[in-house]
Amino acid sequence: MLNRRNFLTAAVGVAVAGGLAACAKEDDSSSGSSDSGSGGGGGKKITLGFAQVGSESGWRTANTKSVKEAAKEAGYTLKFSDAQQKQENQISAIRSYIAQKVDVIAFSPVVVTGWDAVLKEAKTAKIPVILTDRSIKTSDDSLYVSFIGSDFIDEGRRAGKMLETVLQKAGHKGPVKIAQLEGTTGAAPALERAKGFKEIMDAEHKDDWKIVVSQTGDFTRAGGKQVMAAFLQSDPDINVLYAHNDDMALGAIQSIEAAGKKPGKDILIISVDGVKDGFVAMSEGKINGIVECNPLLGPQLMDLVKKAADGETVERRIKTKEGDFLQEEAKEALPTRKY
Ligand code: AHR
Repeated sequence: MLNRRNFLTAAVGVAVAGGLAACAKEDDSSSGSSDSGSGGGGGKKITLGFAQVGSESGWRTANTKSVKEAAKEAGYTLKFSDAQQKQENQISAIRSYIAQKVDVIAFSPVVVTGWDAVLKEAKTAKIPVILTDRSIKTSDDSLYVSFIGSDFIDEGRRAGKMLETVLQKAGHKGPVKIAQLEGTTGAAPALERAKGFKEIMDAEHKDDWKIVVSQTGDFTRAGGKQVMAAFLQSDPDINVLYAHNDDMALGAIQSIEAAGKKPGKDILIISVDGVKDGFVAMSEGKINGIVECNPLLGPQLMDLVKKAADGETVERRIKTKEGDFLQEEAKEALPTRKY
C-alpha cells in the first residue's frame, strides 16, 4: 500500500558565494531597509542572497513563492536572482552576493558539479552557504553548512514501486516498454531519480521492464511535449512513461493525444512533484501516479539562515518528507493541494 503523507522536514548545512548575474534576473525583495553585512546577530536585520535555478516548472514557481514569502515573514532582506537554468548565471549571482557582503547565501544548484571555486570565494569572505532543494558534488564538504531538500534517489525508487502497482491495477500483461523523460542534464534530481528507478528495475524487473528511450526534457512542459513526440515516432509501442517531473508529463500528454493515444490507458504515466496541474491530470485519468516532492522549503530555510547568520551550528542534512498518490486519491486531495 502506498503511503500518503503531507510533507515536512528535518536537516541542515552551509557554504559560500557572491556575484552579479549578467543574464540572470535579479531583484531585491526587501521588507524594509537593510543592515546587510551585519552578520544577523544582535537583533540586526539579516540579508539573504538566494540564487534560484530558474522558473522552469510549477514546482519551481511554488518554491520561489515559498522562499519569498518566508523571507518576508521572517523580516529578512532578500536578494533574489533567477538563473534561467544556467550555471554561469548562478555563479555570477553568488559572486554578486559575496561582493554585497550578504549575511548568508542560499542556492539551489542547477547542476551538481563545478561549484568549488565560487564556494571557496564565499568561504574566504566568511559567508555561510546553504544548499536548498538540490545537492552538489564537491571534494570539500566545508564549502556549505547545510543541505535542505528531498531524497531524489528515494523518489526514483518510489516511482519504480509505484509503477509495479499501476501495472497491476491496469492488468498489464507482456513487455513493459518504458520511455523516460529526464530532468535537466547533470542536475541532481535528474541523475538521482533515474538512479533510484533503475535500482528497482534491475533488482526486481530485469527481464520484463526495459527503458527503450530516455532523453532530457529539461524539466519543462515544452521539452516534455517535444521529446515525447520524438519518442513516439521512434517507438510507437511504448506503453509506460516515467517523467522526472509533472510539467514534462503534462507536455508529453499533449503529444500522446496528438498521436491518437490515450494517456493513462494506452500509455501509463508516472511522474514526480505533485503540482496542482499534475493532480488535475491525474483526476482526469491521464496520469496514473505521482511521487510527491515538496517545494515549500521557505520557512525551514529561514530558520537555518537565522542560525547560520548567528554563527550557530546547523544540521548538516534536512530531508523533506513526502507522499505518493494514485488516481483514486487525486480528486480528494486536489482541493487541499497547496501548490
Ligand atoms: O529540483 C527539483 C526539481 O526541479 C523539480 O522536481 C522540478 O519540477 C524542478 O524543475
